[in-house]
Amino acid sequence: MTDTAYLRSARHLAARVFLDRVRPGDLIVDATLGTGQDCEQLCRLVGDEGRVYGFDVQIDALNRTRERLKTAGLLNRAELILSGHENMKDFVPQGIRLVAFNLGWLPGSDKTVTTQVETTLKAVQSALDLLAPGGLLVICIYPGHEEGKREADALLRFSSALSPKICTVLYQRFINGGPGAPSCLLVEKITS
Ligand SMILES: C[S@@+](CC[C@H](N)C(=O)[O-])C[C@H]1O[C@@H](n2cnc3c(N)ncnc32)[C@H](O)[C@@H]1O
Repeated sequence: MTDTAYLRSARHLAARVFLDRVRPGDLIVDATLGTGQDCEQLCRLVGDEGRVYGFDVQIDALNRTRERLKTAGLLNRAELILSGHENMKDFVPQGIRLVAFNLGWLPGSDKTVTTQVETTLKAVQSALDLLAPGGLLVICIYPGHEEGKREADALLRFSSALSPKICTVLYQRFINGGPGAPSCLLVEKITS
């Protein structure tokens, strides 16, 4: 990555946060597997003692991720789950260090299968409940399409209302990128 690309995208901001925060042995959730790019980075960071629980509703996303992890020799660090992230409490233990959401649709596939505001909100609440103190939610948001705009509005309403005694919330947005510019929302859990 060159210096001029430092602020390249919301995903790159998220990747830097992963690098900063994820340690060997951590339990992590990738709530939107997609092509598995984030999952691969997270699997590298958790080491052999850690675990990444990955969710997607599309079998294509799971297959792409499985292939990617297999090629990288990282498949033993991940549990790939064909289910909506709104069900994560059924699969994931308490004490999670970081939950990553990269909202929207699977690159190069059906754009109608996008994350939806109601299930996203439910998943974000579940993720907050599952986080260990000091744990972090990292949410890349794309308000450049209709459902993405609804997600952005709802997530900002939800996270602005969180008590500062329980969470710290930071919102990063590419403010000269027009009304649909991507953003990255970070929520750190202080205490349960
Ligand atoms: C932008 S992509 C994720 C990109 C991914 N992080 C990567 O590294 O390639 C968004 C993904 O969310 C998935 N998705 C949509 N609704 C979902 C839900 N309820 N639960 C989990 N995944 C969902 C889509 O199928 C799509 O693969």
